[in-house]
Amino acid sequence: MVTPDKYKKKRVLNELNTIIEIGHSIISSFDYDSVLQTISDGISRLLQIESAAIYILENEQELWLGATTPPLNPDMPEALRKAWLEDHPHVKRAINGLKPIALDDTLTADLSPAESMVVKLRNLRSLLYLPFVQQNEAIGVLILGTCKRSRKFTNHEVALAQTVANQLAIAIQNARLHSNILNYKNNLEKLVVERTCELKAANEELKSINEELNKKNELISKQKSELEDALHNLKTVQMKLFEAEKMASLGVLTAGVAHEINNPLNFIMGAYLGLNNFFTIELPDYLEKVSPLLGSMKLGIDRVTAIVRGLNQFSKDSKELNDDCNIHAIVDNCLLILQNQYKDRIQIQKKYADSDIRIKGNIGKLHQVFTNILLNAIQAIENQGEIIVVTELKNQHAVISIQDNGCGIEKDILPRITEPFFTTKSPQQGTGLGLSIAYKIVNEHKGSITFFSEVKKGTTVVVSLPLVN
Ligand SMILES: Nc1ncnc2c1ncn2[C@@H]1O[C@H](COP(=O)(O)OP(=O)(O)OP(=O)(O)O)[C@@H](O)[C@H]1O
Ligand SMILES: [Mg+2]
Repeated sequence: MVTPDKYKKKRVLNELNTIIEIGHSIISSFDYDSVLQTISDGISRLLQIESAAIYILENEQELWLGATTPPLNPDMPEALRKAWLEDHPHVKRAINGLKPIALDDTLTADLSPAESMVVKLRNLRSLLYLPFVQQNEAIGVLILGTCKRSRKFTNHEVALAQTVANQLAIAIQNARLHSNILNYKNNLEKLVVERTCELKAANEELKSINEELNKKNELISKQKSELEDALHNLKTVQMKLFEAEKMASLGVLTAGVAHEINNPLNFIMGAYLGLNNFFTIELPDYLEKVSPLLGSMKLGIDRVTAIVRGLNQFSKDSKELNDDCNIHAIVDNCLLILQNQYKDRIQIQKKYADSDIRIKGNIGKLHQVFTNILLNAIQAIENQGEIIVVTELKNQHAVISIQDNGCGIEKDILPRITEPFFTTKSPQQGTGLGLSIAYKIVNEHKGSITFFSEVKKGTTVVVSLPLVN
């Protein structure tokens, strides 16, 4: 036989089990609906009542059905699923007062039309309204009801039901937090996908911009190199024009001068020979006295003849490289022509090779090479100075070095001095073409031209020409 004491113990155990089961369901599931259903079923079992319903309060005035025991038939009216707080004064009292409200018998109670409808539909007799509270605000109500008989809920039952209702608040909070986290997670995933798409699109755009830029860059580089080529060609053409003009006018001038001097020179030569014959035959006693005079006349005539011959070499306008060129004679010629530019202020030292050096080349053009180099050396010496010309035969090459002790050339401009039009001189003194012409001619002869220079000490220009090119 079951004693009252035993019965009580069994009941308490049962209550504890149900509460633990409810607690377990809260912490083990995040499924909002299933947690609410477990609570609804559990509390019905615990208090052995036929009906339980959980309503959640939304926007402080709407009541949404979370779970019922037993579940609602689909044909039940919508008013059981969603209701207005205003239409349910008992629920409203429980929620506003944050305290349980018991309604002992619906047959004698004062009910609103909406409450009467629910009572009728669910066949309810006694009701217990239990608000569940979170941070001092009711977030919903748990409604327990008997169906067949009226019943007076004991204080213990109310306290037990309130404990479950409090757990309900925790469950709802948990579920809401979880759904927030899920929302955040979903949003985050969505954001990541969106950003990845945007990044991909931006990347593609950048790639195509980059490709376009590369293409444009290539085009620009091509155009730049074409322009550089065109500029180079233009410079070369311009240089050739200048050179041709310079040489043409120099040629015309020298040919004219040589011709003009040659005629009177012939008269003087004739007169000299006549005088010499006259004294030798007619006045041999005076020959000795006039001999120095005649000698100096002859010297002058020879010198002028040499100059005329030299000038004629300049005016030679041929492109052939087959002339038999005597290097010493060419350098001597150039020095002779430039004599008035250096005499009385510059000593010329000739350290020539013992025997003649002859190469195959273009006499006129080689004259231009050495005149340009010697003129630069002369112009580099401001007052007094010295120019040393050394010639030697080395490895089948004529090597001519012209050394001056003039102003020298700055290191940074040294690589540029053979560029056409590069000059450090005033427009009256230089056009910047001398060395570019010399460089070109030496190249045509398959030779080389090298510069050594030190500022304020002087410059040495070494020209090396193959004997046969
Ligand atoms: N022996 C040298 N001493 C010092 N500077 C020199 C010497 N030779 C050449 N240079 C430098 O090189 C530059 C270029 O020489 P280049 O003979 O080509 O032109 P230029 O003498 O200035 O003019 P151009 O020869 O056409 O009358 C000169 O302006 C000068 O600065
Ligand atoms: Mg020059």
